[in-house]
Amino acid sequence: MTDQTTINEASATPLSNSRKVYIKTYGCQMNVYDSTRMSDALARDGYEPTSDPEDADLVLLNTCHIREKAADKVYSELGRLRDMKKRKAGEGRDVVIGVAGCVAQAEGEEILRRSPAVDVVIGPQTYHRLPEALRKARQGERIVDTDYAIEDKFEHLPAAEPTKIRARGVTAFLTVQEGCDKFCTFCVVPYTRGSEVSRPVHQIVAEAEQLVAAGVREITLLGQNVNAWHGTGPKGEAWSLGDLLYRLADVPGLARLRYTTSHPRDMDDRLIAAHGELRALMPYLHLPVQAGADRVLKAMNRRHTADEYLRLIERIREARPDIAMAGDFIVGFPGETDQEFEDTMRLVEEVRYAQAYSFKYSTRPGTPGADLKDQVPEEKKAERLDRLQALLLKQTREFNESCVGKKIDLLLEKPGRMPGQIIGRSPWLQSVNVDAKASQIGEIIKVRITGIGTNSLFAEPLGA
Ligand code: SAH
Ligand code: SF4
Ligand code: F3S
Repeated sequence: MTDQTTINEASATPLSNSRKVYIKTYGCQMNVYDSTRMSDALARDGYEPTSDPEDADLVLLNTCHIREKAADKVYSELGRLRDMKKRKAGEGRDVVIGVAGCVAQAEGEEILRRSPAVDVVIGPQTYHRLPEALRKARQGERIVDTDYAIEDKFEHLPAAEPTKIRARGVTAFLTVQEGCDKFCTFCVVPYTRGSEVSRPVHQIVAEAEQLVAAGVREITLLGQNVNAWHGTGPKGEAWSLGDLLYRLADVPGLARLRYTTSHPRDMDDRLIAAHGELRALMPYLHLPVQAGADRVLKAMNRRHTADEYLRLIERIREARPDIAMAGDFIVGFPGETDQEFEDTMRLVEEVRYAQAYSFKYSTRPGTPGADLKDQVPEEKKAERLDRLQALLLKQTREFNESCVGKKIDLLLEKPGRMPGQIIGRSPWLQSVNVDAKASQIGEIIKVRITGIGTNSLFAEPLGA
């Protein structure tokens, strides 16, 4: 999971008499996926998406609780929305405000107490009940629905219409697994998302087929611990994520597969074999390690050593030599010494990451880490983060430089900033600018990488 704040700008067929919904998404890709599903469920009730909160009858914040900053953002946004709601009420327009996602799950009723403007609080496991909660809210009730629902929400959500899927582009997310049983001592996810649940094979295959029929070429399977996914094959045999990838690689028209985020403990042989054998499985793996010192890893309850992680990457690289590695890091976990931080730097030097996300440890109420003595001072965390990020940035640049001159397959994704340019996605998840026609979006073409920019690469098309 990577957190990126995005705004849902999907377009929909206008309905007469329709209401408008503005969804703001915080946090990881799983929230991005959930926002699209909520948007589709709301469309059935006549809500048309808008990218302008001023234009909305319903404002929905899909929130993240992973670090303190992420949770704080929600309350400051709710302050702004309270003013807007008041102003609109003065103009005779009722605006409903909803809070979904992980802050909703973690704080429930507390949100209603702290933010009087909020009408609906709905957890990640119950968002299929959002339309009903909104009907009640429109009658003046304030609703909190954060149960871990017994019914399968995915079975209760409508499938997206092909035109909507198409409007979202040629790459798509597909959640296959939710929740986490790992209980790393710094992390709120097991509390906000509940225990691990895997969606059944038939549901996943059907959704993948729908996406592909609507023009999607690349699917990223999502899960808080996506490689903990497990299911049952057609003969009743136990399947792991590797088996699922083999099955999905057979979906006609599906050109590319990815998955994120994985835990080192769940990288089994079948999954590693898939990286070696499946052409559709892209050579990019996000495999967070968090820290490089064994004592810290143990205190974090990661349940593997630094050496086990390095040996695992060796095996993955044997299966797929050109694989690009991505990672997540936390600096300043309680008790982390200077020496232990140097172990993280050494591990990074050894792995050579193509991409990475790094954070200062943030104390999360209710997690075991919050009770630990020896919290690391803020300045120390900042210093360590600066050094780590400088190293990771250098590695990303080196990786990008190593791509210059290479001939690659590029999936053409969306119009670029310059007319006549299209932005494509490389096998290693880089954005690449190339001269191409808008009508080619969705095609995979051969290009040669010619140079690197700040956030993207440049390429020239090669003849067929
Ligand atoms: N399931 C994934 C990651 C989930 S959260 C895994 O096990 O690796 C995404 C990232 O946020 C984590 O990898 C971690 O680097 C970061 N993170 C989680 N809790 C944090 C905290 N309390 N403080 C700082 N960073 C945190
Ligand atoms: Fe959080 Fe650890 Fe679970 Fe990842 S594996 S979601 S870091 S508890
Ligand atoms: Fe944030 Fe919840 Fe994702 S806490 S990172 S939105 S699972």
